Amino acid sequence: MIGGGVGALGYQLYWGEITAGTMAAAAALLDSVRTQLSTFTETLSIMLDKWRGSIRLVRLVEREEDGVLRSQTFPVNWSKIECQRLDYSFGEKKVLKSFSLSLQRGEWVILQGASGAGKSTLVELLCRVRNPTAGMILFDQIPLSTITESEVRKNIALVLQQGMIFTATFRENLTLQSVTAAEDLLQVLKIVELDILVESLPMKLDTEIFEGGENFSGGEKQRIMIGRALLKNPSLLVLDESTAMIGAQQEESILTNIRANFPGMTVILVSHKSDAKKFADRVITL
Ligand SMILES: Nc1ncnc2c1ncn2[C@@H]1O[C@H](COP(=O)(O)OP(=O)(O)O)[C@@H](O)[C@H]1O
Ligand SMILES: [Mg+2]
Repeated sequence: MIGGGVGALGYQLYWGEITAGTMAAAAALLDSVRTQLSTFTETLSIMLDKWRGSIRLVRLVEREEDGVLRSQTFPVNWSKIECQRLDYSFGEKKVLKSFSLSLQRGEWVILQGASGAGKSTLVELLCRVRNPTAGMILFDQIPLSTITESEVRKNIALVLQQGMIFTATFRENLTLQSVTAAEDLLQVLKIVELDILVESLPMKLDTEIFEGGENFSGGEKQRIMIGRALLKNPSLLVLDESTAMIGAQQEESILTNIRANFPGMTVILVSHKSDAKKFADRVITL
């Protein structure tokens, strides 16, 4: 559904040592994942070439096709996000019309509304997966539209209900091969309650996750994706129905853990479990 959005943004493929063969393999791989990559959620999406038996990295880097020169760094110490009169339309269909909202640093917000109300659209604007048709999003005084792609991906994390699990090890699925301190990894495993599971695996963190994560449950995969997001230590975390397959009790304890360990993080939660509301400083209904 949103695949067209990714195509429209346009990504350039970067490869280390490129030969015609690897380039063709990369293009095929890219096509096969593009349908799954419904929104561009990863810092740099890293795909693993499963055909060649070795790990190859494909980095998808946004081309600045709209001609906007993005040079701003992310204001990591921002204290307020302002959404000013946002419009967003899919063709003729207006999903958001002059929508304004301000979010404080450290605030937890539950976003609710019927299916189709525009919850995912709004969070995609906040994470700059989409750009508003009109209006502006400011992090303090800095327009989100002027911040470089890598800075946006590094500082804002969006976790979807159906995110990507790679055919790679448990560790790689969490870190996306970025350098990560062992204690940070352990801390995050505890927060998302995967520490005991990982301990029980034959190769622990080096255990392979099979294609699509078929050797793990839906809830476990969602916890891996939340863990991956937390490892970035983002200042804005969006969980868009990404706890749907996690039981109510476990969702509650994971959210409690996140709240205790990431005090300065603003969290937007789209969850249909009524218990999630107790974590909200505010409930916004679309
Ligand atoms: N890629 C798309 N193309 C056309 N319409 C879309 C697309 N994505 C979402 N919509 C429409 O926009 C509206 C808002 O969708 P969405 O933000 O996903 O709502 P929610 O997350 O609240 O269920 C819905 O009517 C939906 O059908
Ligand atoms: Mg949605």
